[in-house]
Parts: sequence; structure tokens; C-alpha cells
Amino acid sequence: MSKKRSRWYARLGWGVMMVFSSMVALYTLSYLVLGEQVYVEVLVESFLARPWGIYTHAFFAMIALALGPFQFRGLMIEHRPPIHRTLGKIYVVGALMTGLSGLYMAGYAYGGWISQLGFGTMAVALLVTTSMAYLKIRARHIVEHRAWMIRSFSVLFAAVTLRLWLPVLTALYQGDFTPAYQWVAWVAWVPNLIGADWYVRRLARRSGTAAVEQPFQYSTAAATP
Ligand code: HEM
Repeated sequence: MSKKRSRWYARLGWGVMMVFSSMVALYTLSYLVLGEQVYVEVLVESFLARPWGIYTHAFFAMIALALGPFQFRGLMIEHRPPIHRTLGKIYVVGALMTGLSGLYMAGYAYGGWISQLGFGTMAVALLVTTSMAYLKIRARHIVEHRAWMIRSFSVLFAAVTLRLWLPVLTALYQGDFTPAYQWVAWVAWVPNLIGADWYVRRLARRSGTAAVEQPFQYSTAAATP
């Protein structure tokens, strides 16, 4: 594929990611502003029983999801490193709080142990990938930092893919929401993470690095915390 074409695909992918992330962030904002009026019917009881859980979750998740796409803009990383650093710190706090509150809410998720385990492991995946990304940048391993951030955002992006998968799965189960919800707690994030890992390895192969272990290849000033 020519360089021009692959750049065009990258821009398109970023645009799609941006639009979907913004839409779900806005939907999540409606949870904070309108409260009970917009709760999904089968989840109302659980959310009313633990309002602080769902409000904390929605607040931090919205921030992390809205900021995430900007952190992958090459131009900003190269030319506006202080902005990248500041947004990065907010993203890390937002993603970690999303993971912690998600882990708490997972214990009460609709659909029993299958969805509880699905959301629980998703929360752990978010906590691990985000922490790794942060530790790597503190150690100035910028290529690895980027790789873990891609993995982190792929898990966070489950907020989008969940809402794309759910109507499809509900239709496949002829309107039966419970098995669709149990499936979605897994398919919302596992394929994202596998895809992200494949992408990271492909980037490493393309740039000629053995893995993502190599020190940074472009301006280190750009991503120093
Ligand atoms: C990636 C880690 C995440 C985990 C582990 C997680 C987990 C959960 C859990 C367990 C619930 C309650 C579901 C139930 O009671 O059945 C929930 C609800 C919710 N989450 Fe997350 N979540 C994550 C990320 C996000 C993100 C990034 C957003 C949006 C920005 C988000 C927005 C919401 C909203 C709006 C609800 C209310 C239910 C709905 O309308 O679907 N979550 N989440």
C-alpha cells in the first residue's frame, strides 16, 4: 500500500474513532445530567441502589473516552508535548477511576456471573494496560508507552463497541436481552484488545524493531511526563 493511501486510512480511522467516542461520551453525559430518566430499564434498580458507583463511573469514563482520541494525534504529540502530557495525565486518572468504579459495578452487573466476570476482567484489563502505559512513560520507554496506551484505549473503546454489538446480539437472540448482555460483556472488549495487540506488533515489525522494547525513535521531548 502506498504511503499516501495508508496515511489516508489512518486519518479515516482516527475520524471514525473520534466521532464514535464523542457520541458515547455525550450519551454518558446524559447519565450525569438527566439521571434516572435515561437509565436502561433493567439496570435502574441496580443504579438507584448505588448512585455513587454509577455517577463516579460515568463521570471519569466520559472524560477518558472524550480525551483518548486526541492523544493519538501524531501532530499534537510532536508539536504540542505539554498539551499531550497534561491530557495524558487526565486520561490516566480517568481510565484508572473508570476501571476501579467499573470493577465495583461489575459485582452487581445484570445477567449474573457471566456478565459480572466479563465486566470484571474488562476492568482489570483497563487497570493493567493503563498502569503499564504510565509506568513505561515514567521510565521513558516511549515505544512501549505508546503500545500500552493503544491497548488501554482499545479496552476503553469497549464503551463504543458494546453499544454497536448489543442490538446485533439482541436481534440474534430474537429480542432476548439477557443472553445478549452476557455475550456483550466479553465481545465488547476481547476482540478490541486482540486487534490492538496485533496492530502494535505490526507497527513494531514495520519500524524494524524486534518488539516494542526499543527506546524511542522520534523526539523524546514529545512524550516526557
Ligand atoms: C472499560 C472499562 C469499563 C468497565 C469495566 C465498565 C463496567 C460497567 C458496568 C459493570 C456497568 C453496570 C452494568 C450493569 O449493572 O449491568 C457499567 C455501566 C455503564 N457504563 Fe461502563 N464500564 C467501562 C467503561 C465505560 C466507558 C468508557 C463509558 C463511557 C464513556 C462507560 C459508560 C457506562 C454507562 C453510560 C453505563 C450505564 C449503563 C448503560 O447505559 O449502558 N463505561 N459499566
